[in-house]
Amino acid sequence: MNETTYQEMKEKIIQHFALTSYSVHGVDHWTRVERNGLLIALEDDTVDVTVVRYFSIFHDSRRLTEVEDDLHGPRAMELLLAIGPDRLDLTHNQFSILVYAVEGHTDGVLAGNSTVGSCWDADRLDLGRVGTLPDPKYMSTKAGKKIAVAVAANLKQKWEVARAVAAARKDSGKLFNWRRK
Ligand SMILES: [Fe+2]
Repeated sequence: MNETTYQEMKEKIIQHFALTSYSVHGVDHWTRVERNGLLIALEDDTVDVTVVRYFSIFHDSRRLTEVEDDLHGPRAMELLLAIGPDRLDLTHNQFSILVYAVEGHTDGVLAGNSTVGSCWDADRLDLGRVGTLPDPKYMSTKAGKKIAVAVAANLKQKWEVARAVAAARKDSGKLFNWRRK
């Protein structure tokens, strides 16, 4: 993979991203998707890491709203088709896998291809950011399923702690108000 080409493309995509820099679909999310994809690839050497990394920066790049933007996948695909494989230093085969993964990433289906599956799993493993637990049944890869179980268990624990802290704060507020009476 040509790292300079990748970083330059990432910069351009960030410059044209329509949402804010703290969007739940923005750069921080793309970075976690990249990390998740690389983790999955560690357990399956048929996964094309270059395609997974490009998926991470393209898949949500054309989102126009934070919610209900069903066409952001096809829009990102159009962007990819306008750029073409050569400017990304990809073979035609890599490029068609990337286009397919980007266009279909919101369809909620599973993938037979390990690279496409890794892309979609990497994205779905980051659902905790919007309050949804990653579910192994929606993961296409063996590694994705395994990571989903671990991530979900960790999130459940964190959310339980947060709920307990919120409840304790509420109770301490009541106590404070009672003492003031
Ligand atoms: Fe995403």
